[in-house]
Amino acid sequence: MDFALNDEQREIREMVHDICLERVEPRAAEIDESGEFPWDIKELFAKHDILAIPFTPEYGGVSGSALTLIVAVEEISKFCVTSSLILSVQSLGSLPIWLAGSEDQKRKYLPPLARGEQMAAFALTESGSGSDAGGMRTRAIRRGETYVMNGSKTFITGGSVADTIVVFARTDQDGDAPARDISAFIVEKTMPGFKVGKLEKKMGIRGSPTAQLFFEDLAVPVANRLGNEGDGFKLAMRVLDHSRPGIAAQALGIAEGAFALARRYARDRRQFGKPIIEFQGIQFMLADMATQIEAARALTYAAADALDRHLPDINLSSAMAKVFASDAAMRVTTDAVQILGGYGYLRDFPAERMMRDAKITQIYEGTNEIQRLVIAREVLKEKG
Ligand code: CAA
Repeated sequence: MDFALNDEQREIREMVHDICLERVEPRAAEIDESGEFPWDIKELFAKHDILAIPFTPEYGGVSGSALTLIVAVEEISKFCVTSSLILSVQSLGSLPIWLAGSEDQKRKYLPPLARGEQMAAFALTESGSGSDAGGMRTRAIRRGETYVMNGSKTFITGGSVADTIVVFARTDQDGDAPARDISAFIVEKTMPGFKVGKLEKKMGIRGSPTAQLFFEDLAVPVANRLGNEGDGFKLAMRVLDHSRPGIAAQALGIAEGAFALARRYARDRRQFGKPIIEFQGIQFMLADMATQIEAARALTYAAADALDRHLPDINLSSAMAKVFASDAAMRVTTDAVQILGGYGYLRDFPAERMMRDAKITQIYEGTNEIQRLVIAREVLKEKG
């Protein structure tokens, strides 16, 4: 089945696929093993304008369409999820600027990100506030024309390699309503008081640095605040509505990569005198895997298309795509390991890496429990 992609989207998909087949796939196992950020892949993506996909031409980009971005993330994720995160986080970290930035902020910060000269990150989560994003403790206190920021963030994807980091902090010291207390700021890594802490050791996406960030009397100019004071929480929620289809696309790509591997293996592997693909037990597993993938693609592309067409209820379509595609990726990659049997359990084959990488898609950008909460709140509303 194929979704109605336009010519530009098909061309970008083909270009990203070819580059990843030639340059990313051969690096994927090594990136996972070393756990080091793949600067060569970042340069490759910048050179081929892949990092420019999330941005419109007026800010130095080549597209700005959510569906085009989704298709590119899906292609990269078939080969290497760590590499797909380079593009996903460039989008996630720039979305707050795109959605709430002034014209001056957009002109200053977006073009270097589109050119891939600079990298972005999104700093919302803290050690004590993950799912309960409104419970953050980082504070930014206004002193004349600057805010003085103190606090820390954890689990910040790309935090140690980012130049431009959108940081959410409490600006209303007495309040307890997240929707009014939190503001968003553009922080530059060169600002005194910005420090990168430890990098986490992870099960998967091992080449993508997950950093602690510290802010010690960091002076952020008022000009770097995004939108009005107190707009930060709603902005964070809007950003996540836009970015969750990207996690769905990642999950979809991993599942497709794992399916292709399992099918290839099942054709080659002979037991009891014939290829194991001829056994109905294997065929049924592959049939279920393919069905999960098609359903995940339909929800993911529909969510991205809804963003491009500015349809209402994007929180619902984004959450549904994210929850379904990530659960599908976990099932499909687990089944791929099973089809490869003992070989699936070895590092010599990519199946086990795909299974480890799939797990994070059920956790980050809102756990799947939070997605179900968002979905339930919407579908339980009385309408009409
Ligand atoms: N868009 C706009 N506004 C929204 C909104 C949305 N999608 N969702 C909520 N709001 C508004 C509400 O209308 C409300 O406004 P009013 O007070 O004016 O009515 C306000 O925000 C507060 O909303 P809630 O009462 O619903 O807030 P809550 O505290 O119950 O939290 C939540 C809601 C959905 C659980 C939210 O906290 C959430 O999404 N949590 C998960 C956080 C998350 O996804 N973190 C991921 C970190 S980023 C990451 O993982 C990136 C990476 O590594 C790659």
